[in-house]
Amino acid sequence: MSNPIARREWLKQSALAAFGLSFSFKSLGGEDYLPRYWGSEQGLLNLGSNENPYGLSPAAKQAIADMINSAHRYQYNIPSLQNFKKELATFYGVTPDHLLVTPGSGEALNLLARAYSQGDLVTANPTFGILPNTAKKIGVNVKEIALDGAKVHDLGAMMKAIDTKTSHVYICNPANPTGTVLKPAELRQFCQEASKQATVTIDEAYIDFLDAPYNESMVSLINDNKNIVIVRTFSKIHAMAGMRVGFVMAHPDTIKALAANHFNNANFCMSALSMTAAQASLKDLAHSKLSKEKNAAARDFTISELEKLGFRCTPSFTNFIFFNLRNYQGDFAKDMLAKNVLLRSSEQPDGKYCRVSVGTMEEMQSFIKLMKAVKA
Ligand SMILES: Cc1ncc(COP(=O)(O)O)c(C=O)c1O
Repeated sequence: MSNPIARREWLKQSALAAFGLSFSFKSLGGEDYLPRYWGSEQGLLNLGSNENPYGLSPAAKQAIADMINSAHRYQYNIPSLQNFKKELATFYGVTPDHLLVTPGSGEALNLLARAYSQGDLVTANPTFGILPNTAKKIGVNVKEIALDGAKVHDLGAMMKAIDTKTSHVYICNPANPTGTVLKPAELRQFCQEASKQATVTIDEAYIDFLDAPYNESMVSLINDNKNIVIVRTFSKIHAMAGMRVGFVMAHPDTIKALAANHFNNANFCMSALSMTAAQASLKDLAHSKLSKEKNAAARDFTISELEKLGFRCTPSFTNFIFFNLRNYQGDFAKDMLAKNVLLRSSEQPDGKYCRVSVGTMEEMQSFIKLMKAVKA
């Protein structure tokens, strides 16, 4: 299909057919829901997966180029990678024994769902799907606690839901899909209390978008507490979603137990090119800072324009925005896909919502232009 317009139309039609009506948060199962066929290169405005639109850091690109001639070797035979875990540990103020590196943090979430599946899982609703959906798939009873009226985790209600049958608690902070954040002191207290009963997993995928005082990681708790697990990713602020680098930080005994179900360290299951990119990206603080600043500017613009159009936005601390669709009739995500825009929409108990990722300023201007024509 050489004609680009015909090709685009074909892709759009296949996308719609594949997507059907299931593009909501409710019907997600494992990672099966993840879209697989789209991208801006296919003419779509891709605001669906909370990716970082600014691309890999120049240092990461250079590191990949420098390593390309060693990529025929296994990772453990490449000298510059032998320090990967050590450098990661130093950056996060832990030791290599506190780390389990995984091909993307989704893989870590799957592993954790299985590792702590002896009893019930307590989590929020809505929340990021991979861990709870994997748990459901393997027969775990999942207690889903509604967010509070401000779309923030209801820690009091979650604590009440924890009982002797609970083996695992999952909190995504900042929260996906709502973009809200918990006060660090309150989350710390919750972790300490809940971890007396169950393993508490805190998914900090979006923490790098936060400013003080919210940007406090719960990693400080792992030294003295074997029941607290932190999950991180290079997919967001480091713009490495396609390169698949994530990691778990926990007490060395906890890591050892988890590693028994995994390849233990970054020596075998990780791509050499991804690790070298991650290593370089960690040191390129200027690039992370630029991504964070540009994201904040595009996010503030989008929220302010959506609010002017009468859409109520949940305050966002992340690189995506959760807003109420008022009286929109129909399937918003599907309708927007027909206009070449990829985003998520869902039905919540208090109405229909959209989650749109924050792209570049230009992309968000295009998005707002389309939103002006939306009848809701
Ligand atoms: C909260 C959260 N955790 C984890 C992930 C998975 O990221 P990855 O597997 O790319 O590291 C995502 C992806 O969007 C996410 O939103």
